[in-house]
Amino acid sequence: MIGNEKIKKILYGGDYNPEQWPEEVWEEDMRLLKLAHVDIVTLNVFNWAMLQPGEETYDFSKLDKIMDLVRQNGLKVFMATSTGAYPAWMARKYPDILRTPNNGIRRKFGRRHVFCPNSPTYHKYAAALVEKLAERYAKYDNIVAWHICNEYGGACYCENCEKAFRKWLQKKYGTIEELNRVWNLPFWSHTMYDWEDVVVPSLLTEEFESDGIRTTFQGISLDYARFNSDSLLACYNMEKQILKRYMPQISVTTNIMGMIKATDYQKWSKDMDFVAWDNYPNAEDDAAEVAMRHDLMRGLKQGKSFALAEQTPSVNNWNPVCRLKRPGIMRLWSYQAVAHGADTVMFFQMRRSIGACEKFHGAFIDHVGNEDTRVFREVKALGEELENRVKGLTLGARTHADIAIVFDWDNWWAAEYSAGPSRLIKYCQEVKQYYKALFSGHYLVDLISVEDELSDYKLVIAPLLYMCKEGYDEKLREYVRQGGTFLSTYFSGYVEDHDLVVTGGYPGRLKDILGIWVEEIDALPSEEENSFIYKGRTYPAQIACDLMHLRGAGELAHYESDFYAGMPVITEHIFGKGKAYYVGTRSSEAFYLAFISDIAKELQITPVINAPEGIEATVRENENGNFLFLLNHTQDTVVVPVEQAGKDLLTGKEYSKGDDVVLNRADVVILQR
Ligand code: GLA
Ligand code: ZN
Repeated sequence: MIGNEKIKKILYGGDYNPEQWPEEVWEEDMRLLKLAHVDIVTLNVFNWAMLQPGEETYDFSKLDKIMDLVRQNGLKVFMATSTGAYPAWMARKYPDILRTPNNGIRRKFGRRHVFCPNSPTYHKYAAALVEKLAERYAKYDNIVAWHICNEYGGACYCENCEKAFRKWLQKKYGTIEELNRVWNLPFWSHTMYDWEDVVVPSLLTEEFESDGIRTTFQGISLDYARFNSDSLLACYNMEKQILKRYMPQISVTTNIMGMIKATDYQKWSKDMDFVAWDNYPNAEDDAAEVAMRHDLMRGLKQGKSFALAEQTPSVNNWNPVCRLKRPGIMRLWSYQAVAHGADTVMFFQMRRSIGACEKFHGAFIDHVGNEDTRVFREVKALGEELENRVKGLTLGARTHADIAIVFDWDNWWAAEYSAGPSRLIKYCQEVKQYYKALFSGHYLVDLISVEDELSDYKLVIAPLLYMCKEGYDEKLREYVRQGGTFLSTYFSGYVEDHDLVVTGGYPGRLKDILGIWVEEIDALPSEEENSFIYKGRTYPAQIACDLMHLRGAGELAHYESDFYAGMPVITEHIFGKGKAYYVGTRSSEAFYLAFISDIAKELQITPVINAPEGIEATVRENENGNFLFLLNHTQDTVVVPVEQAGKDLLTGKEYSKGDDVVLNRADVVILQR
């Protein structure tokens, strides 16, 4: 759907499960969906049991009817393959399909998304089903894209996975000697003599539970995380190849989930024709957190627009306390997705089911069954607005940011597997500190991978770059040498790709760029803090404090207390034509905002707008113009001065330079300029 030139507007709709309902309901559904301006439905997500009731029997009669019904009603289809939940007969007959969690106990039939990714049964029958679906539905030209499986995730630790892990390692490392080296196996007499000595790192072997899952051999667990992500990806690609054989032109993707640890989406996205993601913020997530996930998702394809594949129209079902989205919030968060690069606004689900765990998950059509609900009125109004006001104007529009934050899954795994210095060190939280400062300061930012180009950015921030992969230091060095500005933090540069420490002093290969030597790192319990003074104001130093020496850098702040009082904590280093900053601790939001704004000012990076915090601002550009999105996440009315004339897509109102945009609570303005 994304990148398909036949699509002329923001697609609107989402997951529809008519197979859960008697056919009499379907016609009414069609009326209601059209009333809500829905133009796309995601079908066939969990139908394997219906489509293949027995090993040799397939039955597409109901799906045929559904496909014909939605086609007759002019709806487009995001067509799923149903391989996210296997049928009961398969589990009974072929237990290898059942996932084995890290406790080593094989599951029984139940739940969903719990197939073993290396199960021969899963591969065989998933392939057979997809082949049949592809053959049968290739001719439906209202299918705009295929949606493989559903929300891949989790990990399996069974014997089939163990065998596949050995093969994966053999391919990666070649010899057992190399394996002994990269996993540092002389430690604790772990030397392996044969590939058969390799076992999966689970609670029966290297892993243990203490404040989350920990591991005695981080190199092994790290490789297992990579292997598991690759195993799931191989399942996706197995299906994709079949679909492409039947429909070489069709877009194929899967619905991913933002910042999810088990799956290295930067690797996955290379095999996805477009990024489609499910946005379900938790109660505690603020607007910056959600914005950050959107930007990470946009970054997966170097800034190309993405599909918002799912969100709830009103309420989730899984939180201990499931709060309603207040009036206007569904609309606000839908536009937030568009503001960050979404070209679709889609939901789970169209009609609320009557049984099992999603019966109280929000839907366009509630149990009351008609259009006379708050939620229906809100989704209808949004559908109308997207169709008549936004149309296709923002499709494909790009965001041009001067600032990038580096995000890396291997680094996430490695940093959080680490035994010491502190379990309080959390990668995504650290990234968020920097993201939030940029968000509050109204700066545009891209989240990029270590493979992405740096030269387009004036400022590159790599928080907690614990693992600095082979060659990445050189990329950064060159970037700074040529005039770029780089910022890194405590717990960076420690290890190479296999989690082996780079000797010669921390932060390893980043030392010369940053102009420092970190001798020790002190971990602080959450109730304790040190402090430092930056530009006359005192800020906290928390979680981890680097004890560092200047090796060419200049000090911007030093610790105020403890035995390392007076040692530098914030530094800057002129390197080549550029500069490198280092923040040797975790501080407060106020510090990050002050510090980052100073750096941005020096680099002449201008914020998108001058507005109070709580107003979110982004810009997207395409051949139709430059779109300034303003979103009010506060409870108050806020006034934003217009710096460049434009017309609000949503109201048609013209604004000149110097006018005020008045945004009430949850208001959105999209100025086309
Ligand atoms: C996920 C799934 C959907 C549904 C929703 C409920 O995103 O993909 O099938 O379970 O959650 O929120
Ligand atoms: Zn397995």
